[in-house]
Amino acid sequence: KRLLPLLAGMVLLLSACGRADLSTLRPQGPVAEEQFGLMKLTITIMVIVVLVVFAIAGYVILRYRRRPGDKSIPVQVEGNHKLEIIWTVIPIVLLIIIGIPTVNSVFGLAKDYTKDPNAIQINVTAHQYWWEFEYPKLGVKTAQELLIPEGTIISVEAKTADVLHSFWIPSLAGKTDTNPGGNVNTMYFKADHTGVFLGKCAELCGPSHSLMDFKVKVVDKASFDRWVAAMKNPVALPQDQEVADLLNKQCLSCHAIGGNGGPAFPNLTGIGGRQTVAGILVNTDDPKYKNEGTVEHNLEKWISDPQAVKPGTLMPKVDLTQDQVKAIAKYLAGLKLDY
Ligand code: CUA
Repeated sequence: KRLLPLLAGMVLLLSACGRADLSTLRPQGPVAEEQFGLMKLTITIMVIVVLVVFAIAGYVILRYRRRPGDKSIPVQVEGNHKLEIIWTVIPIVLLIIIGIPTVNSVFGLAKDYTKDPNAIQINVTAHQYWWEFEYPKLGVKTAQELLIPEGTIISVEAKTADVLHSFWIPSLAGKTDTNPGGNVNTMYFKADHTGVFLGKCAELCGPSHSLMDFKVKVVDKASFDRWVAAMKNPVALPQDQEVADLLNKQCLSCHAIGGNGGPAFPNLTGIGGRQTVAGILVNTDDPKYKNEGTVEHNLEKWISDPQAVKPGTLMPKVDLTQDQVKAIAKYLAGLKLDY
């Protein structure tokens, strides 16, 4: 009776492994493929070890069990050099077999591609609880949605603005920690084809750690170039002067939109075209998602009470009437980029 819910839970857990946008078991690029290869090698060796140990244990338990009427004490053994050498050498050999390709991969991943003319450099900065993506050579900064061209090396320099986080795109590349204290970690990845992949923070970083999601949107090269150009276009403020003033005072003191506003907090350029608001409220009319809602609806929800969506977020609850929230959400929802 207790086994059934446990099994059901395991099936549920494993069913998530099938999602191509969120699974290390279905790699969508060369780096993820290499890491999947390492996993397969390690798991194969572990399974062999488990099988051999269980077989020997089972054999010994059966073969040397106490028989009815046998009251003798078994032969007492103390030390066996030959056996001890064998069971020390075998794990060493196995560790070397796992270790060589693993170390190779680790150093390969940390390779610095920033000087490669074809690579796109992206500075990733983790914040409680959002992701900042800067394209230093292209002069573009965005948040929550990382747009990259297919088949191109993405050279990442990852750091944190506050505590320890970890940059992870399960289908494309393994975890890269972002360490406090000015430390910068490098890694690279490449997506084989277009699509949208889910990224996660993989290091416990506070109450909203599990909500620190982001998207990786892989597009063709021409679309990527158009996106970069669109990101640099100036954006018009709301025509209604009252809304424009409100936006200037309440939002643009921190956020940047087009050429307007402050540089410090999530850049909102093109936010109306993103797949999520705040990284987790899914912008859709499709009711199969729990957090369903249009961009506008999600923006209203987020602006009205950020703490209810992401506990611990630095986004303050601004003193606005329902109508003002609606007006700002409507303007932001209209900020879409053509690419
Ligand atoms: Cu950031 Cu967990």
